[in-house]
Amino acid sequence: MTSLATLAVHAGRDDLAGLGTHVPPIDLSTTNPVPDIGSGGAAYEALAGGGRPPAEGGLVYQRLWNPTVARFEDAMAALEATEESVAFGSGMAALTACLIATVSLGKPHVVAVRPLYGGADHLLATGLVGTTVTWAAPDRVAAAVRPDTGLVLVETPANPTLDLLDLRAVCKAAGGVPVVVDNTFATPVLQRPIEHGAALVLHSATKYLGGHGDVVGGVVATSAHWAARLRRVRAVTGGLLHPLAAYLLHRGLQTLPVRVQAQQAGAVRLAEWLAGHEHVRRVHFPSGPLVGTQMSGPGAMVAFEVADAGTAARVASAVRLITHAVSLGGVDTLVQHPASLTHRPVEAAAKPRAGLLRMSVGLEHPDDIQADLDYALKDAHR
Ligand SMILES: Cc1ncc(COP(=O)(O)O)c(C=O)c1O
Repeated sequence: MTSLATLAVHAGRDDLAGLGTHVPPIDLSTTNPVPDIGSGGAAYEALAGGGRPPAEGGLVYQRLWNPTVARFEDAMAALEATEESVAFGSGMAALTACLIATVSLGKPHVVAVRPLYGGADHLLATGLVGTTVTWAAPDRVAAAVRPDTGLVLVETPANPTLDLLDLRAVCKAAGGVPVVVDNTFATPVLQRPIEHGAALVLHSATKYLGGHGDVVGGVVATSAHWAARLRRVRAVTGGLLHPLAAYLLHRGLQTLPVRVQAQQAGAVRLAEWLAGHEHVRRVHFPSGPLVGTQMSGPGAMVAFEVADAGTAARVASAVRLITHAVSLGGVDTLVQHPASLTHRPVEAAAKPRAGLLRMSVGLEHPDDIQADLDYALKDAHR
């Protein structure tokens, strides 16, 4: 089997030699010449229904198919070890497509395990696209599943607490209901949910996949069957990824393994150091039996608790090298206060703790990040 590092560099590039190019061309065509009405119409029908492009008939229209986006999708499917993947304009558009697909199958009930990213929590809690939700503790998933349950949704490591879930146990408890795993924090470098029984693997591609904080996107890696459903939703609702964004994401994948490993090494050091800091009450960092088995490593996200919301606000304002900003997974270190920002729309009972800060560790030298954090933690207590 080809190693992940090699796939990251080469996947989705099979056609390049034949095209006489070394990097993927960016195809910006919004429309494509149709050879004749018969084959064009047949192609339209196939693509709008979620199919792949037929040999004849053209690609018709960018909302239906784009070769630059398709190359990124092929690469993601290779990295997540799935048959196909479908890219969207954002992680939330990817999740929305999964929810619309299950509603359209007549199974509008979703079982979800908290915590989830605040936007995902909000989308489910509001039922905006016609779903209903049962929030279940990890060991209550089986009890929460009903005949109209279409999906089980989990994040591991979860945003923002970095709680881990045993995916095999969750998939068993789901009893045949497709499990969607948000793999944004782990990336396929550290965890491949399909190997543990998941049916759909979702990413905010905005984060580690792009890796440089300059592109918003989403992707779902899954079976050919589910991919067709999701492409149909994308074609009809229009949540597509722009080809320029797809190009950047595809390029980002080439350095994903080295970035994740290096960022993780920094995070391990910082998590250890934070655990001994006089002003830090608790550190959240993946550990235990699932690290080294389900996940090959703990990842590069660290959360830590200070005394209260006021202290957290002062720490976030005092950092100078680290940027106080939402988002994660880029080459530079970011810190933010989930209760105020990323998880703001979450109902009070499920909101992250008031003193919790979430940090995405970047590629700076860990000594420099540590010095900045130490300054900010001490400054917040002056
Ligand atoms: C774990 C997780 N899933 C999904 C999303 C949503 O992704 P996007 O912001 O690309 O829509 C985010 C965004 O922060 C996230 O952290």
